[in-house]
This record gives sequence, C-alpha cells and structure tokens, in this order.
Amino acid sequence: MEPSTVPGTEGYAENAGQLIARYESVAFLEKYRPVVHLLPTRACSVLDIGAGTGGDAACLASLGHTVIALEPVAAFREAGMKAHAPANIEWVNDSLPSLSAIGARQTGYDLIVVAAVWMHLAAEERMEAMGNISTLLKPGAILVIS
Ligand SMILES: C[S@@+](CC[C@H](N)C(=O)[O-])C[C@H]1O[C@@H](n2cnc3c(N)ncnc32)[C@H](O)[C@@H]1O
Repeated sequence: MEPSTVPGTEGYAENAGQLIARYESVAFLEKYRPVVHLLPTRACSVLDIGAGTGGDAACLASLGHTVIALEPVAAFREAGMKAHAPANIEWVNDSLPSLSAIGARQTGYDLIVVAAVWMHLAAEERMEAMGNISTLLKPGAILVIS
C-alpha cells in the first residue's frame, strides 16, 4: 500500500479494495446522462482524468475512441488494467493539478472527462488544474467535469 502524496488521493489506496467494486458498479450512461448528447460521436481522442478503475474509459474505448486513463493511485490503475484488459486504454500515472506527465507529451484531446475528482482539489489547486487542463484541449474540444 503506497502512502499518498498526491492531493485528493488521501485514503484511496487504503480503501481501494471496497472502492474498486463500487466504481465498477456505476453504469456509464447513468452517470453521463445529462451530457451524453454532447459527447463526440466520431472516433476521437479522450483523456479521462482521475479514471479510477477505468469503467468510463473502457466504455469510451468501446465506442471507438482512443482513450488515455490518467490515475494517480496504483491500486486503481492495476485493477483497471485487469478489469478492462481487452479494452484499448493507455494507463498513465499522473495527477492534478500539475498534470506534468501528460502535459509533457504536448498532445491535445477532443474530449476530457474529470468525473468525481474535482471535489478533492482545494480552490487554488482547481485554478492551477483548470489552467493545465485548458492547454490539453484541442480547438472545439469538450470538457466534462462533475
Ligand atoms: C470518486 S473517484 C472517481 C473515479 C472515476 N472518475 C469514476 O467516476 O468512477 C475519484 C478518483 O480521482 C482520483 N484522484 C484523486 N485526486 C486526484 C488528483 N489530484 N489527480 C487525479 N486524480 C485524482 C482518485 O484516485 C480516484 O480514482
């Protein structure tokens, strides 16, 4: 079990066992219903920030999108890789607010989702996070934050 140094992840590694089952139990459409009509229908590049065990990432990959699941907690990345092994998902160890690893790629995305993560960040972290997320959005991209 790794001690957490990433803001917002306190307690996640310690409780990963029970949380993994919970994350996998929420259906994508149920969660995204209010914005589902806004999601791109053509195949595009997607970044799922704070992907947990990758349920959303797997669903988006199954729709034909190229998906990166960004997740700082190793237990979630590992569970996600196992649970969604057939899905075409790239897993990246990185975190808000800096997004240093993904930012270093200097790549833009058509859709970025930040589902049930934002509440973990303090106000000043949100400011920094929003600035860094904005540099990752392609022109005309969609950002979904819950
Ligand atoms: C409530 S879970 C949501 C997981 C997934 N997005 C979902 O909707 O099922 C919050 C996730 O955010 C991640 N997280 C917490 N702090 C983070 C940070 N600073 N940067 C990126 N992810 C973070 C946690 O590790 C966890 O996977």
